[in-house]
Amino acid sequence: MDNEQTYQGPQRVFSGVQPTGALHLGNYLGALKNWVDMQNNDPGAERLYGVVDLHAITAGYEPEQLARATREIAAAYIAGGIDPARSAIFVQSAVSAHSELMWLLSSMTQMGKLERMTQFKDKAGKNAERAGLGLFAYPVLMAADILIYRATHVPVGEDQKQHLELSRDIAATFNARYGVEFFPQPEPVIMGEATRVMSLQDGTKKMSKSDPSEKSRINLIDDADTIVKKIKKAQTDPDALPDSVEGLAGRAGADNLVTIYAALAEKTKAEVIAEYAGQGWGVFKPALADLAVEKLAPMTARMSELMADPAQIDAILSAGNEKANALAEKTVREVREIMGFWG
Ligand code: TYM
Repeated sequence: MDNEQTYQGPQRVFSGVQPTGALHLGNYLGALKNWVDMQNNDPGAERLYGVVDLHAITAGYEPEQLARATREIAAAYIAGGIDPARSAIFVQSAVSAHSELMWLLSSMTQMGKLERMTQFKDKAGKNAERAGLGLFAYPVLMAADILIYRATHVPVGEDQKQHLELSRDIAATFNARYGVEFFPQPEPVIMGEATRVMSLQDGTKKMSKSDPSEKSRINLIDDADTIVKKIKKAQTDPDALPDSVEGLAGRAGADNLVTIYAALAEKTKAEVIAEYAGQGWGVFKPALADLAVEKLAPMTARMSELMADPAQIDAILSAGNEKANALAEKTVREVREIMGFWG
């Protein structure tokens, strides 16, 4: 066999976002912003960022909106600072090896482990019997997304940590079962101050695309007025800002706003607290709103420019698909050979 038995390739970064709705501040601060920082600080690595549309169909979705939502996520990647010349931006469903590898890995994944995934439990709710197989098997597709590129680093928000652990587990199971060191152990990269941005309406709940309340999140496509209004209405408490980070304990709404400020300003929470200790929300909220508008407005503008020219987005995606396909096809060929398939 001429497979590489030990992974000695370059550092490879993979991550993705589902095209299930507009990107929000949690997606930006927990994921996209870190992708851009990694891209700009580590020129040696190879990078692939997928719009993971096969994942988006595991929950109810609108077929007539899927292609547009896919372009919109790609536009957000570019507007946020991902440079298609340095990072491949591609569409998961255009690289069929993701699905093939998922099937190959599915026989190495125990159902018990999938049953323990908190996101499955949250999404399936009390009706797990009626949940689709796709929703249940979702983490295996996610493992395939990562392993198909033999990715070494996966920058994500905190909510994806358990899925990443399962991906590592599946990689190790494959290597042990076939006596190879084929898949590297993908490292979750969960960095920055805002690894878990919370809802603006309830600081104990994650900011999420699926929250029915628009006021719970800031979308990257929100205009300045909307951002200011949402921050003004955000949940806080009657107390002023504390004089230490510890003073935020038990004050979920307050903690969330300080976290968002810190991440946007590229400061630590301690630095933000030092600046605003003892101030009321009447001072802090307008400052946060100004900062959010200053950071997000250029991105929003660039996104609408890109969305006005879908052909440009499509050309970038086609080039990314080609690059991703070449890498993915190679991996799946080697996996078939390791697993003993004919041919
Ligand atoms: P998705 O589409 O829900 O979210 C995309 C990215 O945004 C992060 N994120 C957050 N970070 C901080 N605070 C929040 N409130 C918040 N909400 C979302 C997520 O952690 C994620 O990094 N399963 C993934 C998509 C996926 C994937 C992959 C990711 C599919 N295959 C392979 C990495 C590698 C998901 O649903 O992300």
